[in-house]
Amino acid sequence: MPKNPTLSYVCSNCGAAYSKWAGRCSSCGEWNTLEEEVSLGRSADIFKSKGRLLKSQPVISAASHDQPRLVTGIEEFDKIMGGGIVPGSVSLVAGQPGIGKSTLLLQIANALAGKMEVLYVSGEESAHQVSLRARRLGTSTEKLHLATSMVADDIAKTVEAGDYRFVVVDSIQTVMCQSISSAAGSVSQIAASTQLIMAAAKTSNCAVIIVGHVTKEGSIAGPKVLEHMVDVVLQLEGDTYGGFKILRANKNRYGPTNEAGIFEMADNGLQVVQNPSAALLAERQLCDGSVVHATMEGSRPILVEIQALVNPTNYGYPKRTASGVDLNRVNLLIAVLERRTKLKLSDQDIFINVVGGIKLAEPAADLAICMAIGSAAKGLQLKDNAVVFGEVGLSGEIRHVPFADKRLAEALKLGFKVAIGPRQKVGKSNKMIHEVSDIKSALNKFLKKG
Ligand code: TYD
Ligand code: MG
Repeated sequence: MPKNPTLSYVCSNCGAAYSKWAGRCSSCGEWNTLEEEVSLGRSADIFKSKGRLLKSQPVISAASHDQPRLVTGIEEFDKIMGGGIVPGSVSLVAGQPGIGKSTLLLQIANALAGKMEVLYVSGEESAHQVSLRARRLGTSTEKLHLATSMVADDIAKTVEAGDYRFVVVDSIQTVMCQSISSAAGSVSQIAASTQLIMAAAKTSNCAVIIVGHVTKEGSIAGPKVLEHMVDVVLQLEGDTYGGFKILRANKNRYGPTNEAGIFEMADNGLQVVQNPSAALLAERQLCDGSVVHATMEGSRPILVEIQALVNPTNYGYPKRTASGVDLNRVNLLIAVLERRTKLKLSDQDIFINVVGGIKLAEPAADLAICMAIGSAAKGLQLKDNAVVFGEVGLSGEIRHVPFADKRLAEALKLGFKVAIGPRQKVGKSNKMIHEVSDIKSALNKFLKKG
């Protein structure tokens, strides 16, 4: 007989358990991370149960060959998934509210519905709302079914019954498992509901995609164990008011994680952006403070414009603002510029902006940011309208970055003739690239009067 369920509070950051709730986890020091968890209080005598011998088989014969992936035809999505959705897999799509998760999944469901029975379970919107949206996205097939439910047990039962080959659950934060008393969206509810749905998906070999919310810091809401459990974790990022939305795989058990898809929200849902570099540079004006950087989004090169504005400060303390790049990185680069070049920036406000809502996380953007600041501070333009990439070290040296050849190829494709970058490896040098070894010589050599 199991004992009565007991209530405990588990930190969603480090997993420490407490019998009482507190505002701060005393184990990891994070605030507001303790969440209610119900344990079913099973007997602790684990040595009493007798296990059975496992049956094994050669690993190469364990996979059944007759299971093609579900190909949606939305090229970018299929590529990120590693060539389509694997039957029986459970994937998680996470993103900010209003970014387009429901829209994307309805489009995917619609694309697959032409070939198989598909179910879209909504716990967030009414059937009427989803239906209106589906019509706007051009759904006409009868094979796309819709259900509204917030009960994980019912969803799992439906998945297990095997009538559908693809099911979308929108969203995991709204569904709850009947045997657990805590509120929907709590750690134990999310973990238990996912477990139920996963078990059902594996039994019936149905592919499931779950929608997940993100917290205000941008990480996936709910326990970390959710990300460990599912087979694929996709994140949809970007600004909700417009600009590009980038879908990337943070984890993929069936494919690479270096692919990213670029979408734009249109009247008929999320559309793939065919030539992001051209779209991003379309409105560019040649002036000081504007530098084109070749970045990598997954395995694809993109050209983005980095803008800098440098103004004398009116306050005692200079203001530094960055959008699209990490402000700490910008502060570090400003410190390098102050120390390693003749620029005087301590009494200047500096603003950095990456055009088009693109977020640059690569250190390869360092040189372009430094050149933009240098160009804005001196009122000089970049020579030859060059494309820039390279990492800047603390001693002002320009360091090697990966995929230089892909970046150069993209620049060439868009009509750029010159690139400024780090020294290339022996035998890899390219006529287009002007190699620079330190930030001081880069600024001296490549800035000119506009
Ligand atoms: P939605 O997919 O509901 O976002 P999420 O599920 O991530 O919260 O909606 C995203 C936004 O996109 C919403 O503000 C309305 C807009 N939108 C369009 O511009 N065009 C469309 O065709 C659709 C369906 C939505
Ligand atoms: Mg939604």
